[in-house]
Amino acid sequence: MDPKFVDKKTIDEAYAAIGRIRERLGRAKPNYFIETYGCQMNEHDSEKLAGMLEAMGYTRTDDRTKADLILFNTCCIREHAEKRTFGNVGFIKEIKAENPSLILGVCGCMMQQKEVAKKLAARFPFVDMIFGTNELHIFPQLVERVMDGGRVFEIKDTEGEIAEGLPVKRCEGFSTFVNIMYGCNNFCSYCIVPYVRGRERSRRAQDIVEEVRRVVNDEGYTEVTLLGQNVNSYNDNGIRFPELLRMVNEVEGLKRLRFMTSHPKDLSHELVMAMAECDKVCEHIHLPVQSGSNRILKLMNRRYTREHYLDLVRDLRENVPGVEITTDIIVGFPTETEEDLEDTLSLVREVGFSAAYSFAYSVREGTVAARMDGQIPEEVKKERLKRLNAVIAETAVGANDKYMGMEGEILIEGRDLRGEPMMFGKLPSLKMVYVKGDESMIGKYYKVRVTGTRFNSIVGEIID
Ligand code: 5AD
Ligand code: SF4
Repeated sequence: MDPKFVDKKTIDEAYAAIGRIRERLGRAKPNYFIETYGCQMNEHDSEKLAGMLEAMGYTRTDDRTKADLILFNTCCIREHAEKRTFGNVGFIKEIKAENPSLILGVCGCMMQQKEVAKKLAARFPFVDMIFGTNELHIFPQLVERVMDGGRVFEIKDTEGEIAEGLPVKRCEGFSTFVNIMYGCNNFCSYCIVPYVRGRERSRRAQDIVEEVRRVVNDEGYTEVTLLGQNVNSYNDNGIRFPELLRMVNEVEGLKRLRFMTSHPKDLSHELVMAMAECDKVCEHIHLPVQSGSNRILKLMNRRYTREHYLDLVRDLRENVPGVEITTDIIVGFPTETEEDLEDTLSLVREVGFSAAYSFAYSVREGTVAARMDGQIPEEVKKERLKRLNAVIAETAVGANDKYMGMEGEILIEGRDLRGEPMMFGKLPSLKMVYVKGDESMIGKYYKVRVTGTRFNSIVGEIID
């Protein structure tokens, strides 16, 4: 057995614990509430926790005061994520005073930083269970220990393993996530992820294809997003990402295929061609650039240059017609000068991202950048973030104009009540389109022609 996979016996034990809890709960109909912070990876981990809880007999509630079990699945990518968690966990004290049998757990990336987890355990003695990102497959046993009156503090420093076969309760809708790999080996100098999520490990291609088949055929999803910190370094014994994409593209009944996140240093021409040739792969790529300055990119340990990034953009636009590119950008990285910032702003103008997520650099203890000289004062970071956001807004609005008159297919997701109520859905490029209609359209695909704009989006009419 490959050591990177959790063995079958351990998974069987998880199911046995689920069965015991089910028996123990008997006729009780307890509720669970999960609050998730951070990225899609965490969202998906919460779906796995929810899957196990439902198998135990718990029902989901959106009202934490009605819950018998509350989980906070935390994030630590930036400092404010951490502050929010401490605040929100603190609030549970009152709910717990009303309902002493309430089980309260805190898990996720932030708990993977042992010092922070210890601090949380000490500050909030009413937290019953604290566990890390490598403990999902023993979650039922941890719940059992709490039910037996114990307090759980379980954080393993493993490189990380892959647990196949656990139940998943996916969020309702038509679009869902499938993990293809876990962890990250890149050690960008500002980033905590490689420390908390462990080394890169890829799931078996066959397991991924089967999971996609299952969510499409048995659960009715039509859009799947393949998830990984850096999907371009996916490798299952020689099956690389472009090949995986082609395999998943063949799944019958699947309408749309997306993936994220891509690292510019590993984005190959072969992948661009796979995007172009696979009919279900959407014309969208999230390609975080982080900075437009070569000096800063080097300090960030990103291992590509501005010029290389622009070459990738050119390759994508030449081969994948209508492709939308979205990105992440950090301002205020240590030693960043006005000139470096200008390089970032000019790159944003040059590329014309359809969306860019901007962040002020946040010091993460234990990373290389945290120890660098030349940390930028908070006010300067804030001011630079404002300037970056202004340029992003300016370029994104212009980017809507090219859609006028264009035809495409949208998947209707819901109703928007701002102004005149309208239905909305996304084009494959992720662009949101508003159309006239009613609730019966939700979950279906319609051909539309773009006729105008609304907010930061576009308006269309159904032509089919
Ligand atoms: N400070 C600010 N932003 C960060 N990101 C990652 N680490 C940090 C940090 N320390 C941003 C990057 C990444 C996104 C998910 O979060 O832009 O792509
Ligand atoms: Fe963090 Fe860089 Fe890995 Fe992304 S690629 S998770 S930014 S270390």
